[in-house]
Amino acid sequence: MALINENYLKLPGNYLFAEIARRRDAFQKAHPEANIIRLGIGDVTKPLPPAVIEGLHKAVDEMADEKTFKGYGPDGYGYEFLIELIIKHDYLPRGVKLDKDEIFISDGAKSDTANIQEIFGVGNTVALTDPVYPVYIDSNVMAGRTGLYNEKEGKFDKVVYLPCTAENNFVPELPKGKVDMIYLCFPNNPTGTTLSKEELKKWVDYAKENKAVILFDAAYEAFIQEDDVPHSIYEIEGAKEVAIEFRSFSKTAGFTGTRCAFTVVPKELMAYTSNGEPVSLNSLWFRRQTTKFNGTAYIIQKGAAAVYTPEGQKQIKEIINYYMTNAKIIREGLESIGIQVFGGVNAPYIWLKTPNGMDSWAFFDKLLEEAHIIGTPGVGFGPSGQGYFRLTAFGSRENAEEAVERFKTRLKI
Ligand code: MLT
Repeated sequence: MALINENYLKLPGNYLFAEIARRRDAFQKAHPEANIIRLGIGDVTKPLPPAVIEGLHKAVDEMADEKTFKGYGPDGYGYEFLIELIIKHDYLPRGVKLDKDEIFISDGAKSDTANIQEIFGVGNTVALTDPVYPVYIDSNVMAGRTGLYNEKEGKFDKVVYLPCTAENNFVPELPKGKVDMIYLCFPNNPTGTTLSKEELKKWVDYAKENKAVILFDAAYEAFIQEDDVPHSIYEIEGAKEVAIEFRSFSKTAGFTGTRCAFTVVPKELMAYTSNGEPVSLNSLWFRRQTTKFNGTAYIIQKGAAAVYTPEGQKQIKEIINYYMTNAKIIREGLESIGIQVFGGVNAPYIWLKTPNGMDSWAFFDKLLEEAHIIGTPGVGFGPSGQGYFRLTAFGSRENAEEAVERFKTRLKI
């Protein structure tokens, strides 16, 4: 008799975005005439920049020629041409020195943030900001690192939730006790807020003191507009001893359907055996990747490399500016009708307080019924998201403007 991994049964309901798609499709079926504006899942809508398309085309041609054809890629890390560009453009200008064997190219920050927990002990205590990108918590539930789901509290037992709400300005407090694995995502998904260097330093110091590891998701760093916001946790001194960083081309360069990302695991970063022996996480992640992953396609890595050409850089900046202008339109439009909004300045997400203290799912239904707009209920990201709602800026300009108009004219608040 084949037994299942019963940890999966602890997960309540569907994956958040699958549930939203289910509700959207049901509404559309019942109201075929409704022109639904989708500001739910953070999926890009602009096509790949021309420089990337050119890079992809060239790579396809290389694959057609015996002299340039590529089979399996280099073990574990990815192609050096891409890793060198990442070091040169994303890290060196910020004073961060990395070796080539500290960067692992992958097919996405979603899979990497979900898979990374495999190299950690199942007895570790996990801390995460609340609300949170559901992948971090769900992957730890699947691994058996949590207790049962407490329906009333909307929390899993044995997990340390760090509330981020308007009351604390979306800055998580350090855990009262000792935790081992800490998930931080800044600029934050879903709240769109950021941490200053001083605030981030407190986490690095905490991790050092407690021999904890920070899993830092920086998938949205390219959207930072303000000068004093850190793009990488390694801008904080000593962070290489305590942090893994995740980056992605998905939102930065329109790769949500193309799939390319990378994870930085510094060589000085250690975790421990139960006897207290330090073990390099870089070597464990290398072992894991070489066993379970044969790399991101050569063609795709060539497309990602084209992001770093002067044209590629210019083109992605234009696209990011386009989305950030959408964010401004949504933010200011909602504020003008008295809705309290957060984020949307250094991140492509607008986090709003639901009007009249409505609960998040009730507001989801109301917005869909009255304005035919899909967003994401804050509580879907965790209990501290209750009474909040997320809108993405990744739609078209026309839809951003139309959504604001519908908030103003159709929503009865
Ligand atoms: C989101 O909407 O939170 C993101 O699109 C999810 C993701 O990047 O996987």
